[in-house]
Amino acid sequence: MSSKFYITTPIYYVNDIPHIGHAYTTIIVDVLARFHHLLGQEVFFLTGTDEHGQKIEQAATKKGKNPKEYVDEISKSFKDIWENFEISYDKFIRTTDSYHLQTAQKAFLKMYQRGDIYKGEYEGNYCISCEAFFTKSQLIEEKKCPDCKKETTLVKEESYFFKLSAYQDRLLEFYKQHNDFILPKSRYNEVIKFVEAGLEDLSITRTSFDWGIKLPSEIASKDSKKHVMYVWLDALINYLSALGYQNTLNNKMDFWPVNYHIVGKDILRFHAVYWPAFLMSLELPLPQHIAAHGWWTRDGQKMSKSVGNVVNPQEVVNAYGLDCFRYFILREVPFGQDGDFSQRALIERINSDLSNDLGNLLNRLLGMSAKYFNNHLKVDIQAFRTHYKEELESIHRTLMGLETLMQKVQINRYLEEIWKIFALANGMIAKKEPWRLAKEDKMQEVAELLVFIANLLIKSAICLSPCMPKTAEEILSVFNLSLKSKYYLEFIRDNQIVSEVVLMPISALFPKIEAPLLEEKQKEEKTQNFITKEEFSKIEIKVGTIMGVEVMPKSEKLLKLQVDLGEERERQIIAGIKPYYSAQELVGRQVCVLANLKPAKLMGELSEGMILAVKDEEGLSLIQPQMIKKNGSPIS
Ligand code: ME8
Ligand code: MG
Repeated sequence: MSSKFYITTPIYYVNDIPHIGHAYTTIIVDVLARFHHLLGQEVFFLTGTDEHGQKIEQAATKKGKNPKEYVDEISKSFKDIWENFEISYDKFIRTTDSYHLQTAQKAFLKMYQRGDIYKGEYEGNYCISCEAFFTKSQLIEEKKCPDCKKETTLVKEESYFFKLSAYQDRLLEFYKQHNDFILPKSRYNEVIKFVEAGLEDLSITRTSFDWGIKLPSEIASKDSKKHVMYVWLDALINYLSALGYQNTLNNKMDFWPVNYHIVGKDILRFHAVYWPAFLMSLELPLPQHIAAHGWWTRDGQKMSKSVGNVVNPQEVVNAYGLDCFRYFILREVPFGQDGDFSQRALIERINSDLSNDLGNLLNRLLGMSAKYFNNHLKVDIQAFRTHYKEELESIHRTLMGLETLMQKVQINRYLEEIWKIFALANGMIAKKEPWRLAKEDKMQEVAELLVFIANLLIKSAICLSPCMPKTAEEILSVFNLSLKSKYYLEFIRDNQIVSEVVLMPISALFPKIEAPLLEEKQKEEKTQNFITKEEFSKIEIKVGTIMGVEVMPKSEKLLKLQVDLGEERERQIIAGIKPYYSAQELVGRQVCVLANLKPAKLMGELSEGMILAVKDEEGLSLIQPQMIKKNGSPIS
């Protein structure tokens, strides 16, 4: 294994503040980075923000800010949240950084000089939200983006093109030779199908707006129009700029090729098709893996700002804690599949997996060690190894299998395996009943069981650390250990066993959660269901007097009322108040009437308005003015 490990998140658009999807990708990368650090590799973890393009320009305009001022602000909100989340990144790149501009221009020039870029005219549709071009045949309902379903705009402008079509065969050849290039496998097949269907040359510059990287002067000087680079070309190149490729930064190109680009499935095509073609044009080696994860929804619905159901990861972390959040998003869905975020599911995971399976296990170890051994466990190592041979071997096998799972980014499976070890320990306690052994004074047996659990927790904590760094540290602190990468070699690879432990008690991990800790956004929305004064003024409510009442023969509930609203003729209103009022009680009574309700027939009778009433458990009560008012008086 090479000692250098390079891994990236996508660089996030700064048109919006971070949400759970961004946190998900970033945390996956954080896990892989920490894992490879544990293996003793030199890790370079890159994240950052994607700050050019029409979408950002529009977002800034909408906020009444100039683009730079706007992107500074939002980029900082990403930096801040990753800091709060203790993300172990090594570099945060911004595409407005000057070294990135240098790289983007140099790369453009190289591809141009190689003959892969030519000038033409682009005519087609553009989706600003996805920052992507589409042909007529790709659109849905004639105008809409096939990916995000938003309306596209027709673009007709001079443009430079990248000869993507020329790379079709080389790409297919590459995919065939590297069948783990795209993870998971289902996505690999999808990409191959897409490329086999044929690639068109890609428009890589725009002239209709300014907020982007200008073309290198060698090319720009020959143009009458001002071109800026297509934001996806600009963005993808960030993975090279950050390593100092063709710029003034310290050169770290020995980290290239990248080990993993982790992306959401929405942007797989850009990474698995366009990016390798650009790299081929630049004559650079291709990435080892592009791993695409699924999509998070909220309570079964797509997350979107207009629905108002976007999960703010900071709020969730503030309420439930960082490690609980990490555990949930990593464990809940198989890598590559979509997942649903709900507080109910989160609480379920915390209470069952974290509190019951793990928290209780540690508590039982601490409790029994204190009670029976005054926190000092010691066994004869030879006897212990013999008695627990099978179990120790089984755990070793499980832990050694974790590396392969991590390679495939199957983090949910990785966690499942660790939880099998906790289940084994809990099962052993139930089977051996150490409290019974203690009564029978078989203290050596009790000690061996507890030492076994201590070993198992130490090993598991080391492997758990990439996913739940704080929890791992806490568990290790019980055994007076702290996280060091040499421990991976010692305790996992070399299967080192301890035979004497002094335990340092800590307070219980993961107390049970009784009720949701976050108020549901939905409620907030209901109270915000405002109407304007203008809308209210469309509603005509008037005072009237009931002049006549007739029973409707076939109805249990309805009465036919004649109401004087101060107009030439009385109105007929059918009202469902028969169970509550007798005819005598009604005649002569003043009521409030919704007067401009569209007339409708109820059981064959015309109804020209609605009598207003209030209803609760005790029944129904008509609404009337506190004092008699002239019929027809408006209510406002
Ligand atoms: O696409 N569920 O930036 P972006 C899961 N700037 N992941 C989600 C998600 C969801 N609901 N929503 C977003 C861009 N993501 C470009 C990338 S890279 C050279 C340029 C995550 O701000 C997921 O990783 O739209 C997705 O790929 C990324 O955010 C898109 O972020
Ligand atoms: Mg997006």
